[in-house]
Amino acid sequence: DGVFILACILAFVFGSIPFGFVIGKLKGVDVRQYGSGNIGATNVSRVLGKKYGALVLLLDALKGALPVLFLKVSGYSIEYQVVAGLSAILGHCFSPFLKFRGGKGVATGLGVFLVVSPKVTLIAFLVFLSVFLTTRYVSLSSITAALSFPLVFRFLEKPSDFTSLILFITAFVVVGKHYQNIIRLLKGEEKKFK
Ligand code: G3P
Repeated sequence: DGVFILACILAFVFGSIPFGFVIGKLKGVDVRQYGSGNIGATNVSRVLGKKYGALVLLLDALKGALPVLFLKVSGYSIEYQVVAGLSAILGHCFSPFLKFRGGKGVATGLGVFLVVSPKVTLIAFLVFLSVFLTTRYVSLSSITAALSFPLVFRFLEKPSDFTSLILFITAFVVVGKHYQNIIRLLKGEEKKFK
């Protein structure tokens, strides 16, 4: 219906606000020129410090969480929530403000799925944390957490036949957005998080 379509459009528009890039610019730095060149919280931490990284993580997660939360409290089912969440993630990854380039969708996806399914997201977050604490690679932690998500989702959430869209988001984030990280990891060139 109209409300849902409007929510998806707004999710895309808010999702496309590149907070990492904006905060970098406010500090006089184009974060795309440094570190991994990504506009996400990890690279902002690298370039501007952890405080700014945390701020970007919060803002990027919020822009995913808020439109989904709106649909959830309005009584829309999980399927609708995921589609609106995907709009926010796509906005973040293909931002019209950055010539349709953008981030990797991890923080925005975190915000989206924290609302869609807190329990599954909590488990995926624990996967992230254990990989991160043992390897210190944020990318590898993001990839394993994203891979664990559809698996856990299938077992803990009722609409188990709905995992295909979740699988698509996982494949997009893991392969589509992290392939350069994967190549660096395989070559042993990925930077650890200090
Ligand atoms: O969320 C992005 C993270 O998985 C990797 O970031 O800057 O190391 O490519 P980066």
